[in-house]
Amino acid sequence: MPFMIFKEQCEDALKDAGVRPNVFEPPKGIADLCTFSKNADSVFESVKSASKKYPLIKDVTLAGHYINFHMDEEKAFNLLDKKLSESGTVVIDFSSPNIAKPMNIGHLRSTIIGDSLRHIYSYAGWKVVADNHVGDWGTQFGKLLYAYIHWSSKEKLDEDPIGELTRIYIKFHKEAEKRPELIEEAREYFKRLENGDEKLKALWKLFVDISMKEFGKTYDLLNVKFDYALGESFYVDKAKELVEELLARGIAKTNDDGSVYIDLKPFGLTDLIILKSDGSTLYQTRELAAIKYREETFRPDRILYVVGQEQSLYFKQVFSAAKLMGFDSSKYEHVGFGLVVTKDGKLSTRKGKIILLKDVIDKAFSLAMKILEDRDIENKEDVARKVAVGAIKFNDLKQNRTKDVEFDWDRIMSFEGDSGPYVQYTNVRIKSILRKIGSNSGVFHPKSSTEKKIVKELSKFNYTVKKALNENKPNYIASYLLELCTLFNTFYHETRIIGSGNEGGYITFLNEISKKIESGLYLLGIEPLERM
Ligand code: ARG
Repeated sequence: MPFMIFKEQCEDALKDAGVRPNVFEPPKGIADLCTFSKNADSVFESVKSASKKYPLIKDVTLAGHYINFHMDEEKAFNLLDKKLSESGTVVIDFSSPNIAKPMNIGHLRSTIIGDSLRHIYSYAGWKVVADNHVGDWGTQFGKLLYAYIHWSSKEKLDEDPIGELTRIYIKFHKEAEKRPELIEEAREYFKRLENGDEKLKALWKLFVDISMKEFGKTYDLLNVKFDYALGESFYVDKAKELVEELLARGIAKTNDDGSVYIDLKPFGLTDLIILKSDGSTLYQTRELAAIKYREETFRPDRILYVVGQEQSLYFKQVFSAAKLMGFDSSKYEHVGFGLVVTKDGKLSTRKGKIILLKDVIDKAFSLAMKILEDRDIENKEDVARKVAVGAIKFNDLKQNRTKDVEFDWDRIMSFEGDSGPYVQYTNVRIKSILRKIGSNSGVFHPKSSTEKKIVKELSKFNYTVKKALNENKPNYIASYLLELCTLFNTFYHETRIIGSGNEGGYITFLNEISKKIESGLYLLGIEPLERM
């Protein structure tokens, strides 16, 4: 919080001096904030004297066309506990895997980023509705029903539920290459399902239950929770009614073959089909119904769709259609993200080679176990699990989400690099000093330049959260943590803490650092540890 107050004070000082209050962060080390002005030298004196009445401004300096503001670390340190207090309601649509298919790394990214955004918005004071828009409806169920009825049984399903569903789904595609008429048959099954065939519905329900149970295990492992998992099937009837409504309102039109579409030419986009010629709904129809439902039920100020970048054109279409429906689509945002790239450059797209989520977690876990091998800690497996999950999450969240995320096992698990284990370990190190040093805390006065830098970093916590929230980019928080940890480690190597005669002050200082690291980790959905 202090940094945000400092920023306001700089802006106010500029206003008082009659200068446009436009401040920004200069390159590191120069100042804390600065402003640019063509006639900086002529307004400098009045800005400097106006700044006198603002306590967080310690000094103002002139450098060419720039006026630099320096923050008072001592005063900033005393304001660290102030909270953000925003309000608003946000629906976050994330994870959203597809039934009867294993969760892939794209869904993992969505789960991790969405969960982090959930924590960020709640921390800032928002009411969050976390909704898992599960892909539990669509033509793939026609294929699955056909495949199950022809090639599987309840017994086989019980034996290895997900394995069996995957097997018959793959088999369907193989067979359909030889006998294209299967596609037509599958379509027929899906149509019967949409029309409410009881027997098919019961099978569908079975597939959904099996998959949801499996997904649940992954969410437990990742420690991710949802308020709702309404899923696409929830919207089927609503979607059909919506098509009627849009036709009646003239927003949708019928093609010669009976299919229905929304004309998006005014937006420079291709038309959006919302009903197939056989009368069944599509992904986008259920999407539009979900928008209507969410608007009416939650009255959100924002809706975030945490979905891979490859659907960006799709979301442009959907948001444009929503606008035609009369909704303020400016509050919807596609929070897109890039692919996952491995070190040897191989991509994993939804079409290409699928990296299975479970394999990734298993591998991280065994690497973590190996790292902790000769450490003397209790509950080693539990700690290893938290290190593993933290490593995977941090690796994802530290990178700008719009870029491809690199998957390099050595870096992900490294205790020294820019990794989750590094941040967790730094915090553990602080905790262990705190255990040794006792609990007689005293007043802290930042003295060395590293200490001052740390205080400045601490003061930027809420400012950083706010930036992450505004752009829906948790990587600001990850970078913040890395910076803070690196500064702490510098401090740790250059400072004698125990025996310094200033233990009390350092207890206060270290507690503040640890609190910020833990809050930051929490916002990334990562559990801090006491020992590792
Ligand atoms: N199930 C979809 C997929 O795996 C993602 C759904 C994302 N959410 C949404 N409202 N469209 O591609």
